[in-house]
Amino acid sequence: MLTTPEDLKFSSHNESETVAIARKLAVALKPGDVVALYGELGAGKSVFCRAILRALGVTDEALPSPTFAIIQEYQGENCQVAHMDWYRLGDADEIEMLGVRDFFQPPWIALIEWPERAAFMLQDHVIRVRISPDLKDPDLRNIEVERA
Ligand SMILES: Nc1ncnc2c1ncn2[C@@H]1O[C@H](COP(=O)(O)OP(=O)(O)OP(=O)(O)O)[C@@H](O)[C@H]1O
Ligand SMILES: [Mg+2]
Repeated sequence: MLTTPEDLKFSSHNESETVAIARKLAVALKPGDVVALYGELGAGKSVFCRAILRALGVTDEALPSPTFAIIQEYQGENCQVAHMDWYRLGDADEIEMLGVRDFFQPPWIALIEWPERAAFMLQDHVIRVRISPDLKDPDLRNIEVERA
């Protein structure tokens, strides 16, 4: 169970361990929460997000990467979930057009990959997940969850 304030560190040795860690976070999420995921290309942000989507009760067969659409919207069991990837986000006008802020309040839970592309959009209460690949072991990840 995650409470505030808390800072948790995990080691993941493979994709399924990352899924298990994401599920632990998911049980503590509530509508209005914003999860920002940091980590280089291929770190495992999408793996982590898809595990959260499943844990929140999203039953869609396909969970496509939001890289091109920027936002994918889902119906969870007791919430709606917006999975975002800001990697290709353009200027401030595009951010306004997408109405990103609407997803930062109930009934939404927002999951954001590449949040640093528009860091100014994030509020104080964001939950930060940092995924760092190991330099030697290609499957090892250090995962840090920081709930401000
Ligand atoms: N311990 C691990 N945890 C998560 N993914 C792992 C792990 N070990 C290997 N992988 C692999 O790393 C890749 C992670 O890809 P993923 O698309 O989740 O990265 P990403 O951080 O979303 O990248 P991008 O910035 O391009 O969106 C997958 O191919 C996955 O199988
Ligand atoms: Mg991704």
